[in-house]
Amino acid sequence: MSVTVDASLGGSAETVSARELAEIGLRYEVDGEIATITLDRPERRNAQTFATWSALARIGENLPDQVRIVVVKGEGPSFSAGIDLRMFTPEGVPGQGSFASAASLEETTFERRIADAQRGFLWLRRPDIVSIAAVHGHAIGAGFQLALACDLRVVADDVKFCMKEPALGLVPDLTGTKPLVDLVGLPRAIELCLTARVVGADEAVRLGLAELAVPPGDLARAVRDLADALLATDRGAATATKRLLQGAQGRSLEEQAAAERKEQVIRLRTLFAPS
Ligand code: ACO
Repeated sequence: MSVTVDASLGGSAETVSARELAEIGLRYEVDGEIATITLDRPERRNAQTFATWSALARIGENLPDQVRIVVVKGEGPSFSAGIDLRMFTPEGVPGQGSFASAASLEETTFERRIADAQRGFLWLRRPDIVSIAAVHGHAIGAGFQLALACDLRVVADDVKFCMKEPALGLVPDLTGTKPLVDLVGLPRAIELCLTARVVGADEAVRLGLAELAVPPGDLARAVRDLADALLATDRGAATATKRLLQGAQGRSLEEQAAAERKEQVIRLRTLFAPS
C-alpha cells in the first residue's frame, strides 16, 4: 500500500511507501470495508509529529472508495503520549523542524502550518465513513485530540485521557475542543482542560467520552463487533443519517425537519426508483 505524504514542514508532496510510513511511525492496512491506522512508535509512546499529521491527511485523501470504517489505534502500552516533545526544543524532530523555529514565522504562515496539521484529523468526521478510536493506556494532548477526532471511542479499562496542552502553556489546537465541548458540555470541558487531570475508563463512559469500556484484552474484539454492526446498515442510509445528525446542533428544529425531508426524498427516490 502506498500513499502520498507531505512529510515535511511545508515542503512538497511526495509519495511514501509502507516502509516510509513505518519510519514516520504509522501502519495503514485496508481489509475490505475497514481501514486500520496504527500509531506505531511504541518506544516513544506513539508521540506525534508534523509527519504523523501529514501522513494522516494523505491517508484520508487517498482512502479507497470501498472503505466505510476507519479504526485508529496505538501499538504498545499507550494509545499516544501526544505531541513529540522534541518539537518544543530548538533542535526539533530530525528533518521536521520545531515549534521554536516556526514561532518566528509570519502569522498567516504559522496558522497555515497548524491548519495542515489539523487536516490530519478533520477527515475522520466525513459522513461517508465512521471512525472508531480504539484507545488504551495514555491518550494525552494530541493523543486525546486524535481520539476526539473520531466519531466513536471504544476504550480499554486502563485508558487515561488527559488534555495536557494548557498545562504546557498551549491550547488544544488539533480540532479537539469542539468535540470535547459537544460530548461533555462547556463546564466539564473547562474543568478537564484547565486542570489537565486524568480521566479513566469509568468516568469516560459516564461523561460520554467513550461509548464502551472493556478489558484491554477484549478491545480489538469489541471494535470489530462494533464495526460489523455499523457495516450491517445500508451505506447510503448511514451516510445520510450521519450527515443529518452532524448538522442537528447547528440548526433550529424547523431547519432540521427540513433537512430530514430533503435527505428522505433522496433516500426514497434511491430505494424506489423505477428500474
Ligand atoms: N514525546 C517524545 N517522547 C516521548 C513522549 C513524547 N510526548 N512521551 C514519551 N516519550 C518517550 C520517553 O522520553 C521515553 O523515551 P526514552 O526511553 O528514550 O527515555 C519513552 O517514550 C518511554 O516513555 P516513559 O515516560 O518511560 O513511558 P511510561 O510508560 O513510563 O510513561 C507517559 C508514559 C505517561 C505517556 C509519559 O511518557 C509522558 O508523560 N509523556 C509525555 C506526555 C506529554 O506531556 N505529552 C505532550 C502533551 S501536549 C500535546 O500533545 C500538544
